[in-house]
Amino acid sequence: MRAPTPLSDSSRVPNRSHELSADELSIYRQLDQAKIPQHVAIIMDGNGRWAGKRALKRFLGHQKGAESVQFVVETASRINLPWLTLYAFSLENNLRRPKSEVSFLMKLLRSYLVGNVKRMNDNNVRMAYIGRTHDLPQEVQDTMQWASESTAKNTGTTLTLALNYGARSEIVDAVRSLLTDLTTEAHTRGCSVDDLLGAGALESLDESSIARALYTAHMPDPDLVIRTSGEQRISNFLLWQIAYSEIFVTDRLWPDFNGLHLLEAINAYQHRERRFGGLGESFTDEDLNNLEPAEEVAAEIKDHLIPKPDPKSELKTEAKADALLTRR
Ligand code: FPP
Repeated sequence: MRAPTPLSDSSRVPNRSHELSADELSIYRQLDQAKIPQHVAIIMDGNGRWAGKRALKRFLGHQKGAESVQFVVETASRINLPWLTLYAFSLENNLRRPKSEVSFLMKLLRSYLVGNVKRMNDNNVRMAYIGRTHDLPQEVQDTMQWASESTAKNTGTTLTLALNYGARSEIVDAVRSLLTDLTTEAHTRGCSVDDLLGAGALESLDESSIARALYTAHMPDPDLVIRTSGEQRISNFLLWQIAYSEIFVTDRLWPDFNGLHLLEAINAYQHRERRFGGLGESFTDEDLNNLEPAEEVAAEIKDHLIPKPDPKSELKTEAKADALLTRR
């Protein structure tokens, strides 16, 4: 399933920062409004550990995690964050977790949607999904569709839930759809796929053709990826789209994460220097003009990197060697 098309200019959405809590507001005031990210994506992790630490069953961790989802969504909508994407259920979760946990997560998702559509509308949040959602149980798909239709007219934050999502399978699906398009075109034109490839179809395939075939075709790439619970990995999430995203890992477990922590992550993001493979602001044309000759640079580096021998320790080493030699 794909995310819906972009909304009109988000600056026209009324500012609701006055609805932030006092703590949130104090961080929000430190933010540079011109540098609010367009898209934040979150790997929500640590529900099980949160429950385990309290000797509770895992499902209670997921239930508390669903509350965090709503806190974060509402803060995102108050600061006019245009796109928020949450990794709610991976393909691997579906295949590798016990059936009882999978069916609990499906029930939780449905009750979350049913229970929060009104709040989504109150907060002007539009709901969307990415992933192989057609493989989810039919009643879950029906509720998902109902929630996205019920919020389709909203113009604030687009909340995208990644469900039965895996980034590698998203790329497989993109390649399949490109090949299907090519075959259809050959059929329509009454020629072969080989003819189309020979006539330039191969050369015209580029990064933007692939990006357009992904589930996220109509969304900007994430500026910031947040992962909770301290794990330093991407876990098959938006692999293509996060090529230049900033990554923020927090030890906080997902059920303890809320809007305040979202704002803290955005604050940290605003202090990063994004380079997109370039040189950023710390390397200027002036640096290029002031290049020193290579031999001088080499001499300077040598002086810094190779420690000068300490004459005393040199003497000691020689003495040790002499002792060894005379023992023979
Ligand atoms: C990881 O916790 C979290 C998930 C399996 C997915 C996130 C699910 C939720 C936040 C619950 C509800 C979501 C919605 C949208 C209603 P984990 O079980 O992997 O934690 P662990 O690594 O500590 O075991």
